[in-house]
Amino acid sequence: VAALTATAALAEYPEKPVTIVVPFAAGGPTDKVARDLAEALRKPLGATIIIENVGGAGGTLGHTKVAKAANDGYTLLLAHIGMSTAPALYRNLQYKTLDDFEYLGMVNEVPMTLIGRSTLPANNFAELVKWMEANKGKINLANAGLGAASHLCGLLFQQSMKVDMTTVPYKGTGPAMTDLLGGQVDLMCDQTTNTTGQIESGKVKAFAVTTTKRLSTPALAKLPTLEESGVKGFNVTIWHGMYAPKGTPKPVLDKVNAALKVALKDPDFIKRQEALGAVVITDNRTNGADHKKFVEAEINKWGPIIKAAGQYAD
Ligand code: MLT
Repeated sequence: VAALTATAALAEYPEKPVTIVVPFAAGGPTDKVARDLAEALRKPLGATIIIENVGGAGGTLGHTKVAKAANDGYTLLLAHIGMSTAPALYRNLQYKTLDDFEYLGMVNEVPMTLIGRSTLPANNFAELVKWMEANKGKINLANAGLGAASHLCGLLFQQSMKVDMTTVPYKGTGPAMTDLLGGQVDLMCDQTTNTTGQIESGKVKAFAVTTTKRLSTPALAKLPTLEESGVKGFNVTIWHGMYAPKGTPKPVLDKVNAALKVALKDPDFIKRQEALGAVVITDNRTNGADHKKFVEAEINKWGPIIKAAGQYAD
């Protein structure tokens, strides 16, 4: 009977709302990607989608919640590069990235921008460097906690510029942006999904992009790369993927993955993402197996860099 009930349940999935956990506060780039994706996923999945923001510890509290959730397909995770940096940063991580999740496929890749409060007395990267030199020891850099994309970018930037900054952690770069707009913090490295609008409106100053090529999004096209600004080898692109707890039945995983692939081809979704500088994944990383291989490669890439920086949390 149990097998029959399970099969029946599978046949019905999804028969109630599906929750997507976002491991950062509402209003930030991860939240934006999740809500944008949910719009395109609702129909192909055939379910109401609820976004649950679980912020804290650079996203790892949200990752942990999903790793320990019921594996019935009703609690999913949308997470970014932090899935590959947390293993090196957190010595007591409450989950094993490659063992405790089912990989549902990747969603997009998002460049980052180095931005500053509008009152900062610098209007380009060269002037920013001068300002940084003159204000060593007094610079506040906002991020979303150890393990956040903004943390990784900020760490690499401080290392490249040999300027230590005071980092101010938030539960997401949504709230961090509020303080940057208010002039409470000086700098932030954040994803274009969160910064494009603020840059366009002139409410923040933008100094550079973190990719090796300039961006085609009109509002960002004039921004130089950090590489061309003299920060040799700087290359950071953030990616997002979807996950379910280990042991979620394969027919459920297949149903979610199939729906994700339809959503990623939704022209409106693609247009919304591109307007914010994001690129929707179209290669084989939309398959769970290739998604997992990519995350493993990213763990191996970022681990040594983070360990060399000597940053970790117990
Ligand atoms: C990050 O820095 O990892 C993200 O901006 C966090 C967020 O999505 O708020």
